[in-house]
Amino acid sequence: MKLISQPSTSLQGTVHLPGDKSLSHRAAIFAALAQGSSRIENFQLSGVTKVMLDALGNMGIGHTLDGTTLSVQGKGIGHWDNPAAPIHCGGSATTMRILAGAMALNGVTATLDGSARLRQRPMDRIVDPMRQMGIPVEAANGFAPLHLNKSAFPLKSLHYSLPVASAQVKTCLLLAALAADDTSILVEPGPSRDHTERLLRQQGIVVESEIIQVNGHRVYQTALHPPQRLGFSPLHLSLPGDFSSAAFLIVAAAIVPGSQIILRNTGLNPTRTGLLDALLAMGADIRILDPHTNNGEPAGDLVVRYSPLKGIDIGGEQVVRMIDEFPVFAVAAACAEGKTTVYDSLELRHKESDRISCLCNALRNLNVDITERPDGFVINGQGRIPGGGVTNSHHDHRLSMSMLVAGLAAPSTVAVQDAEVFTQSFPEFVSVLNALGAEIRQEEIR
Ligand code: S3P
Repeated sequence: MKLISQPSTSLQGTVHLPGDKSLSHRAAIFAALAQGSSRIENFQLSGVTKVMLDALGNMGIGHTLDGTTLSVQGKGIGHWDNPAAPIHCGGSATTMRILAGAMALNGVTATLDGSARLRQRPMDRIVDPMRQMGIPVEAANGFAPLHLNKSAFPLKSLHYSLPVASAQVKTCLLLAALAADDTSILVEPGPSRDHTERLLRQQGIVVESEIIQVNGHRVYQTALHPPQRLGFSPLHLSLPGDFSSAAFLIVAAAIVPGSQIILRNTGLNPTRTGLLDALLAMGADIRILDPHTNNGEPAGDLVVRYSPLKGIDIGGEQVVRMIDEFPVFAVAAACAEGKTTVYDSLELRHKESDRISCLCNALRNLNVDITERPDGFVINGQGRIPGGGVTNSHHDHRLSMSMLVAGLAAPSTVAVQDAEVFTQSFPEFVSVLNALGAEIRQEEIR
């Protein structure tokens, strides 16, 4: 499907965002691990979370949906069924990686597979440490499909340094570590999102997070102490709005002159909000109202107004705190005055697309002055998107939405080919933006 985004006049209005994707995945898994009925309000209903619910269904865990309220009939740890057929994770690395840890915890025998792109994304980052724990898992050269066999319990505790900061890998290993014979310690080079740790603590599990120095470098250490008696209680949660979905609206309001929008109850976990810090440093006008904690997760209302932006340098730990936001950040950088340099971000090449090369390619179609670097990119911002044109989603949901946002601040229409992929994480994207005054529509076929 080709979607067309029109140059926009000011965006105005208030939005209640759909629930956070990372929390939706984790809440579904935790509910499946609990014994009994869990209820999760403001669950994100999207392509990737549907894949997760279907996968859990294949292991005997039933759910019902009433609007965006999810009810899950948890079977308890150790009681998941072996699926009758390979579990298909679509394009969702989160599903594959974190489910693998939960399946190992349950002693499930199964195959996990996914889309052509998911088969290209690195799985050795979970397979190697899982094997160190004694989990029988096979992967062809470190890529999906993964074949998981029932482990002998207890698993071996793990002391492991993740080569790349990754909440998916950390979550996989923390879930498996619940069944280990002793404390497991994970060390990461950066502050990956900590939703799993917060949910584990709500289950009474002792998880310690510390920033320590190793060889003169700051690293992030997570220690999990397996409980004497392992069992999860049902969850009763209401999820905050997804900051990564909010990101598209924040940038849209920041770059379309005259805009003012309010995003209610948005998740503001500091491991997720690197984009806010980046935009504020660029001169964006963003305020947080009503800061509060929502089921252990920081949240608040964001008020975003248009403001001229200037270029910035992004590297180091901030990359981890805005790992999903680079496509839309690049749109903001193109609308800023001056040079923006992104470095230390090689990991972007391993996302839903190669987000360095595909992003450069997509933005060049709009005449943005962007140069690819091995670990990032450089944008010479001209204060606006220089041109309209036809560009491509590269089958990446965040690239699709980012290019449609670019169209709002372009001098003429931007058409995005294969744009429908946005439904993977934010199916409401077009209707929400159009309700704020944007005009994004499907190309009319004559
Ligand atoms: C996610 C973690 C991130 C992120 C993904 C969701 C999660 O991946 O890119 O969209 O829910 O744990 P990594 O932590 O592997 O970078």
